[in-house]
Amino acid sequence: MIKKTIAAVSLSFLSFTLSAQQKENTYTGPKINKTEMDQKVNSLLEKMTIDEKVGQLNLLTPGGGVATGAVVSDNVQQKIKDGKVGGLFGVSGPEKIKIAQEYAVNDTRLGIPLLIGSDVIHGYKTTFPIPLGSASSWDMELLKQTAQVAAKEATADGINWNFSPMVDVSRDPRWGRVAEGAGEDAYLGSQIARAMVEGYQGMDLTETNTMLATVKHFALYGAPEAGRDYNTVDMSRVKMFNQYLPPYKAAVDAGVASVMSSFNDVDGVPATGNRWLLTELLREQWGFDGFVVSDYTSVNEMIAHGMGDLQDVSALALKAGLDMDMVGEGFVTTLKKSLEEGRVTEEEITTAARRILEAKYKLGLFEDPYKYLDKKRVKKDILTKEHRALARKAAARSFVLLKKDQNVLPIDKKAKIALIGPLGNNQSNMPGTWSPTGDFKNAIPVLEGLKNVAPKAKITYAKGANIVNDEQMAKNVNVFGPKVEISEESPEELLAEALKVAKDADVIVAAVGEASEMSGEASSKTDLLIPESQKVLIRELAKTGKPMVLVLMSGRPLNISEEAQLPVDILQVWHSGVEAGNAIGDVIFGDYNPSGKLTASWPRNVGQVPVYYSMKTTGRPGTQEGFEKFKSKYLDVDNSPLYPFGYGLSYTEFEYGATKISSEEINMSGNITVSTTVTNTGDYDGEEVVQLYIHDKVRSITPPQKQLIGFQKISLKKGESKTVEFTISAEDLKFYNSSLEYVAEPGDFEVGIAPSSDFEFSSTFNLKK
Ligand code: NOJ
Repeated sequence: MIKKTIAAVSLSFLSFTLSAQQKENTYTGPKINKTEMDQKVNSLLEKMTIDEKVGQLNLLTPGGGVATGAVVSDNVQQKIKDGKVGGLFGVSGPEKIKIAQEYAVNDTRLGIPLLIGSDVIHGYKTTFPIPLGSASSWDMELLKQTAQVAAKEATADGINWNFSPMVDVSRDPRWGRVAEGAGEDAYLGSQIARAMVEGYQGMDLTETNTMLATVKHFALYGAPEAGRDYNTVDMSRVKMFNQYLPPYKAAVDAGVASVMSSFNDVDGVPATGNRWLLTELLREQWGFDGFVVSDYTSVNEMIAHGMGDLQDVSALALKAGLDMDMVGEGFVTTLKKSLEEGRVTEEEITTAARRILEAKYKLGLFEDPYKYLDKKRVKKDILTKEHRALARKAAARSFVLLKKDQNVLPIDKKAKIALIGPLGNNQSNMPGTWSPTGDFKNAIPVLEGLKNVAPKAKITYAKGANIVNDEQMAKNVNVFGPKVEISEESPEELLAEALKVAKDADVIVAAVGEASEMSGEASSKTDLLIPESQKVLIRELAKTGKPMVLVLMSGRPLNISEEAQLPVDILQVWHSGVEAGNAIGDVIFGDYNPSGKLTASWPRNVGQVPVYYSMKTTGRPGTQEGFEKFKSKYLDVDNSPLYPFGYGLSYTEFEYGATKISSEEINMSGNITVSTTVTNTGDYDGEEVVQLYIHDKVRSITPPQKQLIGFQKISLKKGESKTVEFTISAEDLKFYNSSLEYVAEPGDFEVGIAPSSDFEFSSTFNLKK
């Protein structure tokens, strides 16, 4: 375990207390009285018929929410009354939920209440930045707080089970759902998984402001071939164990209540019917004791995967360890028949039902099925001033300053500003993908936010371009309502107006990028460029020679190789939620100095994908810059990404001293400390994410060239220095070898503390036997 401490503070006499983020997260889940739970659940199970047990395994959605498949459930009311439903999702509000809960409690023989699920992915009504953005804050305490607020709001609206966190590691920005995860790294992803589970579930699930969390999508959903959503995944065990599985395991270690199986196959068997995955790994090796829910119709989708008919795939799923069937109704329509035919056992059905009942017990639903249905809470607990303030803070901390060589930022609060771009005065794209519980009408557009923060600035707005000019693309993106609106004016007219507005300004702020639904589920892309309509605008604006900043929005790493060459500064703001505009104002005008760091590498072009910091060296690594024949290189671009993992600038400058180690040797039970001094040498106070990487020089399976094993976010006043110290033990050097044993192998390790993953190691230590 890495123990993190901040040692001596020189130059200032400030004492520095550890934030929770900097302490190792030791959360292992809420407290549960197992004996009492067993008594309650056993006594119920004894009374239950096979039909009643199978009914508990059925999760339906009556529609009205976001349907993420072709089917929505019908006759839901009757099915609840018939005892054929264990949970609902896509319903919200105490009044509606009460009706459904009453059917279950009053009209069924045993009166077992329903689980009420929802996708509360990055906030409920108070929308926080998309997860890829939030992750860029590297601030675990802040992330936990956003999850707590999400849980408070969702439970106030009657929901008790969240389909979050999504922890799929992804190194493929073509995949639209890269927006929903924490990026490319398993270590950082694991810290975030823990923080989110802790935030949602808290210490006591029977409290009315905590809810069950679900880690998803188990497993490897973030690695579909060609970045195409729902596509097949094929990966070695060694790669999965070392690079893709740790965040799911971290969530399990943090006591997550449920796991959602993914749509993809794993080792040739769809996750939803994969016994190795759902039972041997998840339960037997990792000790998971909650319940597993399928993804939306993923049981039925195994028919298309080639696993048999509905009865076959339903039996396959149950036997694999799946407990709850989302929307497809394969369990409820075929399991009894399979039991009669001896294809599944009663014990398998009972075990699954037991796990669902246990979840209900953990929430306290048997004590009070209506405990989340207090109408007063809707007004009191949702979209409060405090929650919006947290959303503003989280948004500002998610922004990543990618380029500042033009020194445009921060902008003077009295400046004459030309705000230009299709995302400059837009509400519908602010919340970001997968925010169906939010309402974009509550979101602050950039124009309004800039005016709020700098009332004395003279701001003129022009749209300048459509998000895209392509009608078909607009249609594809507008499935959940208009995100892309193509203006009546021609692109030439829009541009002319923008240039006119720019002419009178001191500075141009160009709010450009992707619409929110250009990323997210079923929104994969093969092109990572800013849409051409806006590239034209950006080029023309840059030609004016005015100081200019791109405020760039997207749900994925983009290819901005062209824009990076222009005389502009670039601030990446993702889709940053309900307070987007205000937070952008806070950062643009310098009330908050940006501190975000990328958690996924930004490629030079789409052909480089996947490009990530922890790549292996290969047997033929390059030895110098530029092309080298017979080395693992491209003819046309460098191997490195345009912006690497861990990268992000600040208005100030941070200087790193040499990485010092307390000893060049460490044994299997000892530890060493690694430290450096970071000094704020620039003109502003600021925050910095200090990162610790290692490179295992010799080991039995090929190592990554760099591996993040720790980080601390510190704040430094102008001129201040702090010594940042990490403790490393053999535990931090472990990996899964080819027999999938978790081991640390003796030998040399390089170690470095750095502001991003792009640095050269200069210190080495040796791990002794
Ligand atoms: C499909 C998505 O893959 C999953 O993340 C989500 O939780 C379900 N639909 C339910 O909406």
